[in-house]
Amino acid sequence: MPKIGKYELQSRVLVAPMSGLTDLPFRRVVNLFNPGLIVSEMVAGRMLAMGKPDTLAKASGKGEIDPLVIQLVGCEKNWMSKAARLSEEAGASFIDINMGCPARKVTSGMSGSALMRDIDNAIQLIVATINSVDVPVTLKMRLGWDNDSLNAPLLAVKAQEAGIKMIVVHGRTRCQFYDGKADWSAVKETVDAVDIPVFVNGDINTAHDAIEALDKSCAAGVMVGRSLIGSPWRLQEIISAVDGSVIPMKLKISDKKKIVLDHYNDIINFYGEKKGVKIARKHLIGYIDDLNLINGSEIKSSIVQMSQSSAVYNILNTTFSKAGEDS
Ligand SMILES: Cc1cc2nc3c(=O)[nH]c(=O)nc-3n(C[C@H](O)[C@H](O)[C@H](O)COP(=O)(O)O)c2cc1C
Repeated sequence: MPKIGKYELQSRVLVAPMSGLTDLPFRRVVNLFNPGLIVSEMVAGRMLAMGKPDTLAKASGKGEIDPLVIQLVGCEKNWMSKAARLSEEAGASFIDINMGCPARKVTSGMSGSALMRDIDNAIQLIVATINSVDVPVTLKMRLGWDNDSLNAPLLAVKAQEAGIKMIVVHGRTRCQFYDGKADWSAVKETVDAVDIPVFVNGDINTAHDAIEALDKSCAAGVMVGRSLIGSPWRLQEIISAVDGSVIPMKLKISDKKKIVLDHYNDIINFYGEKKGVKIARKHLIGYIDDLNLINGSEIKSSIVQMSQSSAVYNILNTTFSKAGEDS
């Protein structure tokens, strides 16, 4: 298995950071399937250093998610250093730096993938982060800013020299956002450029995709994101294909029902009733799509209008019981 510093991963399948999605309740769900790492949603270094409660919640998971990976986003050395120290105190086993986020509100502040346009600043930020903590620091990036600047291999080499211990490359450029298809072959240049483990990411939705992505990129493993929303159990097939482990028993509807209802309760407890009901919707829509119900659209439109968690819970309970009878 690949190593991050001295730490040997238990699986070559990692769960991607997704802002607004990979909060602690969802990380607890995917943790049931034992991926190699589960990266927190991005945490703004500056907000963390300022002690904002919402931001602290994003970095939570100590003692539950092991290893705990906290992803930081930012562009100022001082804030990143302080945030890295706070993350380490909060129990992080690894700190990941986000140099892949394409969102305008992030890149306009010269953070996320904008750092791929300013390699000197990117490296200064990496060095400041590494020098502030004892835990290994990892890096997530894209292929480059656009097709004319595919500089992931260059950034990877410099990041490795600076002390980065693992890299994930999403096989798209920043200017592609999420358009087109991730280019897994293009990630190979970065894999070949460095000695540290490089993971391939983007559009890996099935076990078959994972094997093809590994084949084309020669990466140390895969990172999976969007396809787990609504079907976190998909990790089972992907992990067994990638790690060569035995395919676990297919989950029964009753097992999925328990996961979904526990996830829902956890979201409500974590965020409180009002916020939790809204935050849960994206996950619930995903779960209902995964069940592939004939009346799935009606159920989804009812759920998004409901403001009471008890009403949502009841509809989910009935939906899953009905799906169980039909299966
Ligand atoms: C809603 C959403 C939020 C995301 N937030 C983050 C983030 O916080 N940090 C990050 O590095 N990447 C973020 N990403 C990018 C994902 O980690 C991943 O690179 C991308 O979705 C491609 O992988 P996938 O096709 O398996 O989803 C986000 C993606 C989505 C769709």
